[in-house]
Parts: sequence; C-alpha cells; structure tokens
Amino acid sequence: MEQLLQQIEGYKQEAAAYTATDADAVEAYRIKYLGTKGIVKAVMAEMRNVPNENKKAFGQILNEFKLFIESKYDALKDAAAPSAANTQDDIDWSLPGDDFAVGTRHPLTVVRNQIVSIFKRLGFAVAEGPEIEDDWHNFGAMNLPEDHPARDMQDTFYINQNPAWLLRTHTSSVQARVMEKQKPPIRVICPGRVYRNETISARAHCFFHQVEGLCIDEHVSFADLKQTLYFFVQEMFGKDVRVRFRPSYFPFTEPSAEMDISCLICGGSGCNVCKHTGWVEILGSGMVHPKVLENFNIDPNKYTGFAFGMGIERVCQLKYRVNDLRLYSQNDVRFLRQFTGVV
Ligand code: PHE
Repeated sequence: MEQLLQQIEGYKQEAAAYTATDADAVEAYRIKYLGTKGIVKAVMAEMRNVPNENKKAFGQILNEFKLFIESKYDALKDAAAPSAANTQDDIDWSLPGDDFAVGTRHPLTVVRNQIVSIFKRLGFAVAEGPEIEDDWHNFGAMNLPEDHPARDMQDTFYINQNPAWLLRTHTSSVQARVMEKQKPPIRVICPGRVYRNETISARAHCFFHQVEGLCIDEHVSFADLKQTLYFFVQEMFGKDVRVRFRPSYFPFTEPSAEMDISCLICGGSGCNVCKHTGWVEILGSGMVHPKVLENFNIDPNKYTGFAFGMGIERVCQLKYRVNDLRLYSQNDVRFLRQFTGVV
C-alpha cells in the first residue's frame, strides 16, 4: 500500500514536469498516461489488491490522480496548439493586411463644421441646448404671441405626458437660454436639430438642422448683420457669390430680412433650382426685437443685436446639389460614401 502511494506520487511529479511543444509530444503524453495501456489504467487496476477497509480512501487518491493527469493533458493541449500553428512556415507574414472599413462623416456634420468654423473665426462661441423645450424658451421669450400660427399643433410636436413640453421648432430656444445666463456682449452660434410636424417629402421633413446666431453689444447695427452674413457666404460658397436682402417678418426681430444668394447652379441666369429667378433663399435674419431683450433684462436703449438662422440641409443642398431631403436620414451608404474625404 505504502509503496503504491509512493509510486503514484512519483508518476505525479513526472507528469507535472512533462513539457510538450508540439502536437506529437502531447499525443505521446496522452498515450503514456491516459491510453488503454497507460499508467492511469494500470494504477486503477491495483484497486483489486487493496484491502477492503482501505478501498474508500484509496479510491479517492486514485480519482485525484486521474483528475491531475487529465488537467495536465488539457494544459499541454492549450499550450501546444498555438505554437503548433506558429511553426507552420507556409504563412507569408509580409502580405499586406485587410483594409479597415473606415466610416465617413455625414454630409450634414461636414457642413455644420464648416459653418461653425467660419463663425468661430469671427469670434462667435458655440452654444447648445435641449431638444425638448418648454413653451417659454421656444416661443414666449422669443416674442411669439399666444395666437401665433407657429404655435399651432400643426407645426409643433408637443409631448403627450406633459403638454408644457415640446420639441424645439428652432434653435432660437438656445439663444434664449444664453441670454438668460449671460450678459452682453454676446456672440454665439447655436447648431442643432429642430422638429416640425411636416409630411415627409423630398422638400420637407419632420426634423432638420439649424445654425442660428446671435450678436448683442453696444452699437450693433444692421450693417454689422449684413457684413457678417456676407463674409459667411463668401467663405462658404466662394467670392463670386452675390447676396440680396428682402424685407420679411419674424416676431423676434425688427426689422427682419431674408437673405438670398445668387444661384450657384446656373450662376444667376435661371434654372430649376432657383425656379428661374437666379436667386435662392438661404437664411432669415434681423435686428433683435427690443421685447426679446427686455425679456432677459437687457436694456434695449443701451444694447442692440442681430440674429440669424439657417437650415444646414439647405446649405448642404446648395453646396453638394442634393435634391431630396430624405437622403440625409436614410443613411444609405451609397449616398454617404460620396462624401468620403470631405472634411
Ligand atoms: N428662428 C427662425 C426660424 O427658425 C430663423 C431666424 C433666426 C430668423 C433669427 C431671424 C432671426 O425660421
């Protein structure tokens, strides 16, 4: 009995020291220890000669021995497998690797970044705000009277659970939040997604993206507005572009103007894009209404300001001649890939 135990201990030490660098050596281990004529089987057979009173204790020792030999076998297999692959010399390590499929920036992101960087050069900071807004920041503070058609359920998405909340219809709400916190001088642009309840078609969508701007200081005039926006379109579309302002109406600006640029497609001679007028509308603008300033305790006798807002889709459409608004949100890679390399 004593001798048998010593023998088992010896086998254990021998097995523990066994090393195998390839599959053949691992197989040799299996045959030596776990094969039909292997050591484990032979030791198990000794059970016959063990006296009855020792059978239980010896059985346990045998089991542990078997588990030990098996787990060593597993470890040898794991260790030898990868190195066996590595030693194959039919792999050409100098072959070039597979290309990574790198994504591209969305065209709206590209154009937004371009717009933002132009205004940054003029000293505008970027401000952002929530897409779920309250009535005050989206409408009230912006001097939209209670009965203004833009408040109609037709245009605005209200939140069912709380009708005091809505999806912002323009990023003027961010301007409101800036004026709430910051005193003049203020110079910010507010890029972001806005929502309007429109039937989805090539020319309209239930959400789109805007960049609105706000500049408030002493002695800010309409001439500053014109020059700022003129600089912007020249940087965005090139030096040859011409601009014109048309009187317009927005509740939050007075006077208000829409700005057109000469059609980039036909150069002003008339085509489908400009509906044969030679001009395309690009943004709304105006001098900040005194009531809006008062809403934020900014003294309209001391400070004046201008504001403007444009759709990023519209700018993108003019710049890259995209003729269907739906393309922007379908995320068809055949469309998106066309902007590869555009930064
Ligand atoms: N908020 C206006 C819109 O969404 C755009 C605008 C901004 C017009 C600022 C004038 C001044 O259409």
